[in-house]
Amino acid sequence: MTGALAENSSPPVPSEAEIKALVHAFYAKVRNDRSLGPIFDRVITDWDPHLAKMCDFWSSVMRTSGRYKGNPMAAHLRLKTVQPEHFQRWLELFAQTAREQFESDLAEGFADRSENIARSLQLGMFFRPGEAAVRPRVTE
Ligand code: HEM
Repeated sequence: MTGALAENSSPPVPSEAEIKALVHAFYAKVRNDRSLGPIFDRVITDWDPHLAKMCDFWSSVMRTSGRYKGNPMAAHLRLKTVQPEHFQRWLELFAQTAREQFESDLAEGFADRSENIARSLQLGMFFRPGEAAVRPRVTE
């Protein structure tokens, strides 16, 4: 548990308007970011559908609305230039935006969920069983 919420308290539920404000403010930062901006620029030509999809996604995550029907893992596996440090930057900008928009419980609720989802995306994208850094390379 990384956020400020206690183990057994449920996080506040954002409204759809709050989700929209966060998504739009976050991707405005992403597009201007030197590290993340170019990755999105290569793939997204029309931002309106992407922003709408991300509102659906966060509505499903935070409000269990079921509005998002997609496969984030498949979408990210296609992004061949993304590295773990891009995730660090993504999470930093997301938490920063959430803290600018909301009081702390709600901001930490978003940040916690984003960290958990990022962890599972990174496992799918970067983890190769048998290639752990601690294992010495067998050269012959
Ligand atoms: C290094 C960090 C990340 C980068 C560079 C990144 C980049 C992208 C890009 C370029 C797309 C558009 C893919 C396409 O249209 O083909 C996308 C889609 C998406 N991203 Fe990320 N992303 C990152 C992290 C995350 C995280 C942490 C989450 C969730 C908390 C997330 C959730 C999504 C979702 C839900 C979609 C829509 C997938 C679909 O098409 O259904 N992303 N991302």
